[in-house]
Amino acid sequence: MDHFLYRDGALHAEDVPVAEIAAEVGTPFYLYSTATLTRHFQLFDDALSWGPHMVCYAMKAASNQAVLRILAQCGAGMDVVSGGEYARAIAAGVSGDKIVFSGVGKTEEEMRTALSGGIRQFNLESEPEMERLNRVALSMGVVAPVAVRVNPDVDAKTHAKIATGKSENKFGIPIARAREVYARIAQLKGLKAVGIDVHIGSQLTDLTPYRLAFEKVGQLTDALRADGHDIQRLDLGGGLGIPYARGNEAPPLPSEYGALIRETLGDKGCEIEIEPGRLVAGNAGIMVSKVIYVKSGEGRDFLILDGAMNDLIRPAMYDAYHDIVPIIEPEAGAEQQPYDIVGPVCESGDTFARQRMMPPLGEGDLVAFRSAGAYGAAMSSEYNTRPLIPEVLVNGHQFAVIRPRPTFEEIINRDTLPPWL
Ligand code: LLP
Repeated sequence: MDHFLYRDGALHAEDVPVAEIAAEVGTPFYLYSTATLTRHFQLFDDALSWGPHMVCYAMKAASNQAVLRILAQCGAGMDVVSGGEYARAIAAGVSGDKIVFSGVGKTEEEMRTALSGGIRQFNLESEPEMERLNRVALSMGVVAPVAVRVNPDVDAKTHAKIATGKSENKFGIPIARAREVYARIAQLKGLKAVGIDVHIGSQLTDLTPYRLAFEKVGQLTDALRADGHDIQRLDLGGGLGIPYARGNEAPPLPSEYGALIRETLGDKGCEIEIEPGRLVAGNAGIMVSKVIYVKSGEGRDFLILDGAMNDLIRPAMYDAYHDIVPIIEPEAGAEQQPYDIVGPVCESGDTFARQRMMPPLGEGDLVAFRSAGAYGAAMSSEYNTRPLIPEVLVNGHQFAVIRPRPTFEEIINRDTLPPWL
């Protein structure tokens, strides 16, 4: 459930008509709902309430300071994957002991930043990284808490570009090597193993791959404990999918996911960490865009919008489906017609949907892309020198711009000329 609903024939974000925001901010823009963000965080927190746990929001999904602050105020920890994300989390008021650091290519500088600013744990992805973190920690006279991200060789049955748990993927250490790796960690004075980490992919719509992975993690927990390691935490990653096509998809609920964790790992006496991104932010955000032209092509009509692939890249990159709805509610039983819905960027890939049935739309009409809160603004760029689009937050009757649209001048002034030009 989200808080973008039609009321009196007009799409609202919580209590604010979307058209009112568009009139003030200009299109295109991203729009987030505070109530949806907090609700989704709460669903995960409740799903794990049977035991000690921490929900570490995967902030790669949407990392605006306002979004992070809302979640931090709910008690969320953060999952970060770069020095930049670490800095954003700290700036949003998250304390270091609630931040887990994931990612396959942590640099020495990033390790130092996190070790000096405070860190809950590093999720180690390779043996060279383990050795380097040990050296960095020793040079700083500290001990780095670590979990090893194991690769369980499980097929997450999701889009190939976002599956991470198969042995051919670049992620984690093969689970079969885990005992050796933990034995090595026990010898390294700069590291302390505190848990095990696993993340098998994103937009999972079936619990079976999770079950397979969690069972393997359970067996590994027992084996590592038998080897004498103090495994206190299990970080189970993120990945729970969301319904992108309303009415046609029903991915598992956080409560079902929480019950599966309890069933497979609840008896280990471990603190459970999870790193959801998409399910927290995805349906908490929409992208609002305006029709610039309706163009009749051969055998098809194009809706040319002012939003483009640089603003929302998921359809171009993953052939992702997003519901696209008019801001004015179509009357029940209103006629529909197929459109190819595209942006102005000079690539055929700048296509959001082909032959999508929509009520008739004309120049100046507004549409909303649903489920755009995760990996929308966070993956946007200024390709074609189209300014990063604003982010706006709604809270009840109020709304505020939480990232303004840069001016052309600001964009141009970011470049610096070499002295010889
Ligand atoms: N933890 C780790 C280690 C991850 O790599 C990810 C996502 C997450 C947690 C959060 O997963 P989530 O709950 O959001 O599924 N840009 C793609 C998704 C990339 C996901 C990358 N890793 C998309 O737009 O579909």
